Amino acid sequence: MSVTSHDESQASGKAPARAPGLSAKLLLLTVLFVMLAEVLVFAPSVSNFRKQWLMERLGTAQIASLAAEAAPGGQLPTMLRDELLKNAMVKAISVKRANARVLVIEMDMPAEVDATYDLRNASWVTLIADALMVYVSPKDRVVRVIGEPGLNKDEFIDVVMGEETLKAAMIRYGLDILGLSIIISIITAALLYLSLNWLLVKPMTGLTKNIVRFRERPEDPTRIITPSGRRDEIGTAERELSAMQHELSETLTQKSRLAALGLAVSKISHDLRNMLSSAQLLSDRLRTVKDPTVQRLVPKLIASLDRAIRLCAHTLDFGQAHEAPPRRKRFALAPLVAEVGDSLGLPRPGIDWMVTIDAALEIDADRDQLYRVMSNLCRNAVQALESEGDARGEIAVSGRREGSVTIVEVADTGPGLPEKARSHLFEAFQSVARKGGSGLGLAIAAELVQAHGGQIALVNNEGGATFRVSIPDAVVDLEGMRRRRA
Ligand SMILES: Nc1ncnc2c1ncn2[C@@H]1O[C@H](COP(=O)(O)OP(=O)(O)OP(=O)(O)O)[C@@H](O)[C@H]1O
Ligand SMILES: [Mg+2]
Repeated sequence: MSVTSHDESQASGKAPARAPGLSAKLLLLTVLFVMLAEVLVFAPSVSNFRKQWLMERLGTAQIASLAAEAAPGGQLPTMLRDELLKNAMVKAISVKRANARVLVIEMDMPAEVDATYDLRNASWVTLIADALMVYVSPKDRVVRVIGEPGLNKDEFIDVVMGEETLKAAMIRYGLDILGLSIIISIITAALLYLSLNWLLVKPMTGLTKNIVRFRERPEDPTRIITPSGRRDEIGTAERELSAMQHELSETLTQKSRLAALGLAVSKISHDLRNMLSSAQLLSDRLRTVKDPTVQRLVPKLIASLDRAIRLCAHTLDFGQAHEAPPRRKRFALAPLVAEVGDSLGLPRPGIDWMVTIDAALEIDADRDQLYRVMSNLCRNAVQALESEGDARGEIAVSGRREGSVTIVEVADTGPGLPEKARSHLFEAFQSVARKGGSGLGLAIAAELVQAHGGQIALVNNEGGATFRVSIPDAVVDLEGMRRRRA
């Protein structure tokens, strides 16, 4: 047997389109996941940033309100008032104590408020939503913010302010975070990529390369992987692969040797059979020699030559990788069995030959192949009876039909099969338990019967052996026939 080497695309059919490698996928996924993590962190931190910013404004507003309260008569000069409002970055401040508005500082032109935010008991969800809204809100919004900066107890401040400054600060903050995220994700991705590359991708690439290289020439033991000695899963994969490659390589070498040997045996058998046939023809002539010693030895000589020729023929039959598929047709079984009997010289002195097959019984099979099956079974029966010395015996062949299956049985009254033959029945060279036998007859018979979709079995071994061959009729492909005719 020769092992042909294929290239990669040949064996796997069409080569798949080249997809990004494992490393590229890893890098992309890492960047993606780090960015996702950053987004998740961004929302709460920007909401926090806004709250802090607004609380600062409220704090400054509270200080301004204190300054206003200290003014004589509670009335602030316009310049000072504007200065205080500008400092606090607000347009109006009102301070409330115990639900009573006690102080209001506002610009001359009170502004119209677009939205009101109460920071006192806003939930974190509201805070996040409000913070994100700032980014998409229309330009120059005026908002009212209520909160407790906590300078004076039980006092809360309510300011009206333009949102633009907050928006600008939040955009700056967002950009800062984005920049930071990019740097962090690049560093994390690079570190992850390098470590995964070192831990996984590189050894995987090594394994893959070895597999491809080994597959090109599996008989070459130098291509077997050398495990790196790692103790993780990759190490296990390497060790298992190495063991598998060793076994495969050995099996292949052994098989090619056996194939070469088989070929040689077939050639020898072929030529040997021809030489033995000539020898047989020559020894046949010895029968005419009157010398009693010659007369005594000739039958033995001819029998040995016969056996040797049969061994060669069987070896050749078995050497064919596959028997030709059966060419089936329906024919009467009885004449075929009669032919087999004739060829074996049955009945012969001491061996009765009983055939109980209805003349009308037909079998659907390859005639030549079935002849070989029957001939092997009957010859075995004859040999079994002969092995018993002078004892008389009988070989009975019967046939019947069960539905679409034809059953033929060959029974003899010989000693039956010894245990040694029964354990490996139908296996070539294994079942031989008879002196001078080659152990191929039953293996060939089984192969031929199986090619017909049938079965062969030893059905009885008490008081002689009985072999049963069942051959089902060929399934007629009516549809196919109709199509062919059309
Ligand atoms: N009818 C039988 N009675 C007793 N033993 C049998 C019978 N048929 C087969 N055997 C045993 O089974 C063994 C295998 O038979 P098989 O026909 O496969 O090989 P063989 O007869 O030894 O050699 P070959 O048929 O190749 O010349 C025989 O050696 C014999 O011991
Ligand atoms: Mg035999």
